[in-house]
Amino acid sequence: MTNPLKILVTRRWPETVKAKLTALGEVTLNEADQPLTGDELTQALQDYDVICPTVTDRLDAQVLQAEDVRTRLLANFGVGFNHIDLSATQRLGIAVTNTPGVLTAATAEITLTLMLMTARRAAEGERHVRSGRWQGWSPTHMLSTQVSGRVLGIVGMGRIGVAVARMAYHGLGMQIVYTSRSPLDEALARELKTSHLSLPELLAGSDFVSLHCPATPETRHLLNTETLALMQPHAFLINTARGDIVDETALVTALQQQQIAGAGLDVYEHEPQLQSGLDTLEQVVLLPHMGSGTRQTREAMGLRALDNIAAFAAGRSLPDEVKL
Ligand code: DGY
Repeated sequence: MTNPLKILVTRRWPETVKAKLTALGEVTLNEADQPLTGDELTQALQDYDVICPTVTDRLDAQVLQAEDVRTRLLANFGVGFNHIDLSATQRLGIAVTNTPGVLTAATAEITLTLMLMTARRAAEGERHVRSGRWQGWSPTHMLSTQVSGRVLGIVGMGRIGVAVARMAYHGLGMQIVYTSRSPLDEALARELKTSHLSLPELLAGSDFVSLHCPATPETRHLLNTETLALMQPHAFLINTARGDIVDETALVTALQQQQIAGAGLDVYEHEPQLQSGLDTLEQVVLLPHMGSGTRQTREAMGLRALDNIAAFAAGRSLPDEVKL
């Protein structure tokens, strides 16, 4: 009889998924739900056949220098995999999978939430009411920016970018422009009446700029002092992708100097640390990386990781393998 697969789950998973995972091998859970240190991850690479990491596990070149690596699969819980050094995993012969598709709607919803909250000053208004400062209705109280009909510039037209575009176009009558590595197919471009622009054109012409590109060395600090300066003073920046895409020091300066009107952020450069100055700006909405955080989606993400582990266990090709 072959030995059962030794599987490590690095953070606490939804109950329903945990129950199903135990059928696939000898599972070690992290009920304390504390992120593993680099040393713990290095050790895990020697002790487990399969590791199920997530965005809080930095599997960088240093951690992946481990000797006598036993791990053959990193079944990531999440679609983003910029926390995993793919050149190092490739060198070590470790396969990596992610969970695409299942968090599209949830992430698009949180993007729309941030657009509406920043433009309509919802968080600021709530703080106003809770603090007892509200004196009642008045014609000029807390005026904000209407979202319907404005121009939304989408940076990165993958699954999530398209879902955001559809919600904004069909739901709010927004005008959609986008920039992306590859242009949309004709039917989709026609459905959304959208056109492909260069990044500078998009930044200069949008009332809202929403980031949906992957975090790669090429997109690191795509929004920086120079590119933020191209945005209009009434425009809002929304980031539900990855913190590294925005140079947060430059963003704080642009907001403080009112070069742009506001920002809605769900992700940060150094999570969970905030860039100094961000939390004192009223025109910024800050969420704790909760784009995919619906019960339905987190369960679906776990089940998707399970499908990959099951395929690995059966020696089948991996449904969601990610490669360099
Ligand atoms: C994802 O899946 O990439 C989410 O941001 C959580 O990691």
